[in-house]
Amino acid sequence: MKSILKTAMAVLSLPFISGATVSASEGIKVEHLGTNNTLVRVAGDARYLLLPVQEAYDDATVNVIVDGKLDRTFYVRLAKSKVDYTVPFDLSSYDGHVVVLNIVTSQNRTTVREAKEDACWNNFVLTDSLDVTNYEKYRPAYHHTPLYGWMNDPNGMFYKDGRWHLYYQWNPYGSKWQNMTWGHSSSSDLVNWQHHPAAIEPNGLGSVFSGSSAVDTENSAGFGKDAVVAMYTSAGVSQIQSLAYSTDNGETFTIYPGNPVITLESEARDPNMFWNPDTKLWTLILAHALDREMLIFTSPDMKEWTLQSSFGKGLGAQDGVWECPDLFRLPVDGTDIQKWVLLCNINPGGPFGGSGIQYFIGDFDGKTFTADTDSDGNVPVKWLDYGKDNYAIVSWSDAPDGRRTAIGWMSNWQYAAEVPTKQFRSANTLPREISLFTGTDRQIYAASSPSPELTALRGKVTTVTKSANISRKGKTFALPTENDGICEILVDIDPAKAGPISLTFSNDKGEKSILTYDPKGQTLAFDRRQSGIVDFSQDFPVVTVAPTFSAGRNISLRIFFDRASIEVFADGGKSVMTNLVFPTAPYSTMTINTAEGTAKVKNLKIYSINPEK
Ligand code: FRU
Repeated sequence: MKSILKTAMAVLSLPFISGATVSASEGIKVEHLGTNNTLVRVAGDARYLLLPVQEAYDDATVNVIVDGKLDRTFYVRLAKSKVDYTVPFDLSSYDGHVVVLNIVTSQNRTTVREAKEDACWNNFVLTDSLDVTNYEKYRPAYHHTPLYGWMNDPNGMFYKDGRWHLYYQWNPYGSKWQNMTWGHSSSSDLVNWQHHPAAIEPNGLGSVFSGSSAVDTENSAGFGKDAVVAMYTSAGVSQIQSLAYSTDNGETFTIYPGNPVITLESEARDPNMFWNPDTKLWTLILAHALDREMLIFTSPDMKEWTLQSSFGKGLGAQDGVWECPDLFRLPVDGTDIQKWVLLCNINPGGPFGGSGIQYFIGDFDGKTFTADTDSDGNVPVKWLDYGKDNYAIVSWSDAPDGRRTAIGWMSNWQYAAEVPTKQFRSANTLPREISLFTGTDRQIYAASSPSPELTALRGKVTTVTKSANISRKGKTFALPTENDGICEILVDIDPAKAGPISLTFSNDKGEKSILTYDPKGQTLAFDRRQSGIVDFSQDFPVVTVAPTFSAGRNISLRIFFDRASIEVFADGGKSVMTNLVFPTAPYSTMTINTAEGTAKVKNLKIYSINPEK
């Protein structure tokens, strides 16, 4: 965070021990103990110590010692030759104490003299205020992002008293995966997010992997009526399941001293629990990751869990580990018929490589989930999103009005750590409503459509075209220019007898993303091979293809552009593609053309988006 370095340093007075030390800043004393071991002493009353990071280097282990006792350990890529950015270490809980960082670096060193040359030692800074002004060109304008640091899975989401709480896998000490902590944001409208302090931090049982939360309205766990109970994976040497609870609406959590509540012999993670009104039991689905199956448990009190069944061995996509499950019931086609949906995130083995979300539709009797089969008696593989960048999707518990609102991590493990941002890494997808519909093959599918709150983002309509004929020559429409061209496009395409119809979004640098509807093939394809910056990973420049459900007829598209993403929802979310793009200048035009014949574009509306709604 460049700007943080400029913030005023607090003036500190500390009687430093003299010797072979370098004073990086007043209040900070650096003492080299060996080739890979340095003490950094911090004193005074500043709120933050800024740690200098260089991403290309390995993690240093930082043991935080207060009054001679080890308070915590975390890992940070301390700068060796240059400082990429700094990350804050919050000192407020150590007021009045000298804090000693016992740092173990992992670089190969032969002499202490060499170690002393590392850029980090002269670049620690004490400050009272953090300047988290965004300096990233590719920070989304209206998607949820962490203020700084790395983020992966959204998790532990619950809705209570009018607020949507969103927790996420967070590294507060750098923009690569490490130090898994539950970051916390909340919103009253799913559009404007408020950032809160970290909710659950790594502790004696390990770092804090993904999980879920539920509001315990009956105090069945004994943590208090309406306590928010979180269950997460403690990832240390083993992966075990732990509880934490909050009696202040999810702001702070107390770790349950009886942890762990579930242990298994092989890797299991991402517990997702919910109250099942049919059985009057807490029900839990847990990813038995390497065994590529889901385990189902029940409990009367969230503490004692009984394994009831397993689901999925040999079923569905199996080319990666199974993670981040979710299990819920929804009406089919808006009728009284209900079906259960089991979300199963898988990595790798997604439809276009890397991460993806498969799901199963079926029945659940409170103990066992049974998947529907197709006409050949097989369990079909179904994907919720046919883009490359929607993973670890799970839903909010206790959402109002029977809604099943979900959000995913808008990236892919193949390249998430390489995308061209530094201050923060990764955004979440737009929130989506999941519903069930019957396809032309009589199978039941899950649709995911943009949450209704998102219409509030609409600014002025810049283009309206009721109906236009489109031929091979094509028609070009201007895209809005304000706020780096962020916009929402609504358009219906009547293919008539035309061949594939393409919407090309481009800028004057020759960069483009192409969305193509092929009515005969009944597919929708998104080509980002020339979309802008694509060379940070060989897995990034690809074409993703979704099946369509419009039988080759009229398709209706809703497309959201943010600074680094394009989310395409066809036919109310029946076909969805979420893809990252990094154009070096915003796309300024949309050209629609056919490969052959004439098609009709109807009800075209382009809204600019106003992120400060
Ligand atoms: C999915 C995942 C989860 C795990 C978390 C760790 O992306 O691998 O299974 O809990 O990330 O950050």
